[in-house]
Amino acid sequence: MASGKGSNLEAILEASKKGMCPVNVALVLSNREKAGALAIARREGITACFINPADFPDRESFDLACMEAIIKSNAEWVILAGYMRILTPTFVDRFRNRIVNIHPSLLPAFPGAHAVSDALEYGVKMTGVTVHLVDEVLDGGPILAQEAVPVEEGDTVETLHARIQSCEHRLYPATIARLMEKPFRLDGRRVIWE
Ligand code: GRF
Repeated sequence: MASGKGSNLEAILEASKKGMCPVNVALVLSNREKAGALAIARREGITACFINPADFPDRESFDLACMEAIIKSNAEWVILAGYMRILTPTFVDRFRNRIVNIHPSLLPAFPGAHAVSDALEYGVKMTGVTVHLVDEVLDGGPILAQEAVPVEEGDTVETLHARIQSCEHRLYPATIARLMEKPFRLDGRRVIWE
């Protein structure tokens, strides 16, 4: 599921082609008609599905339509790659511990939609990338992987986000590959790889 340009989707597809990430992307679903991620899906011959939030009276009914599309695609995992909507508890529960998200900060620092500018304004010297399971709390689920990215003097939101994104493009496919290859269990919030 993606709302933006789709560079993380592209990284996952590239890694999969190189045999470094054993996934078949069954469906790319977006809430934005113009999302670059949908164009990438069409180019790659992957089912691209736009579901318009304006066609639904509330979040619940919109998410039910998304759930139906995902179930129909037979996807086993839901990978959020720049999906800018908060999932309803019904959705989270249907795919419990099978929804993964990538966030451009070292969570729990700087959750939310402005993580890169928030980190820059706060003045941290180190930020990074978090890949985590999705639960009902925004950017709050158990952490699967993290990598630090230094903030450099003279960084702007754009230069810092670019450095964070190169990290994302390595870490997301690698973490998804690990998820496909190794089972994990949860000890409270802690992810224990078997
Ligand atoms: C990424 O920075 C990700 O961390 C955040 O949204 C951005 C999506 O970028 N959740 P892209 O659409 O994959 O290029």
